[in-house]
Amino acid sequence: MTSITLKSSIAGLNGEISVPGDKSISHRSVMFGAIAHGETSVSNFLPGDDCLSTISCFQKLGVKIEVEKDSVRINGSGFEGLKEPNEILDVGNSGTTIRLLMGILAGRPFYSCLHGDASIGKRPMTRVTKPLKQMGAAIDGRETGQYTPITIRGGNLTAINYQLPVASAQVKSALLLAGLQAEGKTTIIEPQATRDHTERMIRKFGGEVSTAGREISVKGGQKLTASVINVPGDISSAAFFLAAGAIVPNSKLLLKNVGLNPTRTGIIEVLQQMGAKIEIIKQDSNSFEPVGDILVEASKLTGTVVEGELIPKLIDEIPIIALMATQAEGKTVIKDAEELKVKETNRIDTVVHELSKLGASIEATTDGMVIYGQTKLGGGTVSSHGDHRIGMMLSIAALLCQGEVILENHEAISVSYPNFFTHLHHLIQ
Ligand code: S3P
Repeated sequence: MTSITLKSSIAGLNGEISVPGDKSISHRSVMFGAIAHGETSVSNFLPGDDCLSTISCFQKLGVKIEVEKDSVRINGSGFEGLKEPNEILDVGNSGTTIRLLMGILAGRPFYSCLHGDASIGKRPMTRVTKPLKQMGAAIDGRETGQYTPITIRGGNLTAINYQLPVASAQVKSALLLAGLQAEGKTTIIEPQATRDHTERMIRKFGGEVSTAGREISVKGGQKLTASVINVPGDISSAAFFLAAGAIVPNSKLLLKNVGLNPTRTGIIEVLQQMGAKIEIIKQDSNSFEPVGDILVEASKLTGTVVEGELIPKLIDEIPIIALMATQAEGKTVIKDAEELKVKETNRIDTVVHELSKLGASIEATTDGMVIYGQTKLGGGTVSSHGDHRIGMMLSIAALLCQGEVILENHEAISVSYPNFFTHLHHLIQ
């Protein structure tokens, strides 16, 4: 574990950047490339640790994949082309890799074992293993399939109708990927709308998926065909600079080519709700995932309530929203967000603990947090706890701090934003 001293009390942030490719879409581009027939080419792929874990797992499953910077070529031979791996599949820190991969492997007639880092070892898997077992896969893990290592012997799946107990795109996607290999039509009912990248990918690779309200259905036995994917910039990475642009005095930032899928734009809604000067320019809604450029300026923010249907649209942005709330006028309440407890860290605890160290007035609740605004932040030693989004949030917090801030375990940031500090330094005045 290493630490760095962060820039504090800066004069402002100015300029433009293109944030790296979307993590969720990058993972799926490799997975769909692997299960489709033919050569898929991907540009603006995110070469972060999580997506590299996905590539390495599929290489161990016998798929030929070439990577050159942010371009990837995948030679897929359909689900049938996947081979029994002779090594353990290491997913590193990546929840998306393990959960979606389980859906794919549930339909494959061979044995595989999935494992990850210490954080993955604490994250709940029953939400995926339970319905996959119901479909007919033989799956086990610690505590009867709750924790890694997870073993799977798949094959002969039968479609199910399944009401998701939690609003999770990872679980929905795992079941859609299993459903594509099952006998019959699989229907998933979501409690709230979650990111729909998997549905868009199925269509992009020539498959069919139907959606009616909160119900998503897919028929088994479909043949997917290779495609060309240009990954939009990640709005969850852009969020750190959107927030920084709004809360660091004298800032003006242009973020180019950001993904604007409506299931992901909750952060923009919250910035608007809080009164930020934010504008979407040059929007392209015609590509398979909408994109646009976003302009943000230093603004006077007011506290807000973040809850309900909005939560899945910004679940990964809550740490940075908490930081924005420390600078807003009045109180901000975040609720209905228990899912934060089972992310890369318990993000209710880590956000409250680390921001408190810097002088924020913030309290944990059972399903979120309450933040009192207009606090002056001091300095001190903080830690990412190995969680990329906590590391980036604290790096932005430091810009406002009066004293020196030392960030421990900053290397976790490479999970989703390998050139985060290069971009940050480029924008600092
Ligand atoms: C993701 C879904 C979300 C999100 C994660 C990526 C995806 O997780 O937090 O970073 O790519 O499907 P849940 O499905 O667990 O909510």
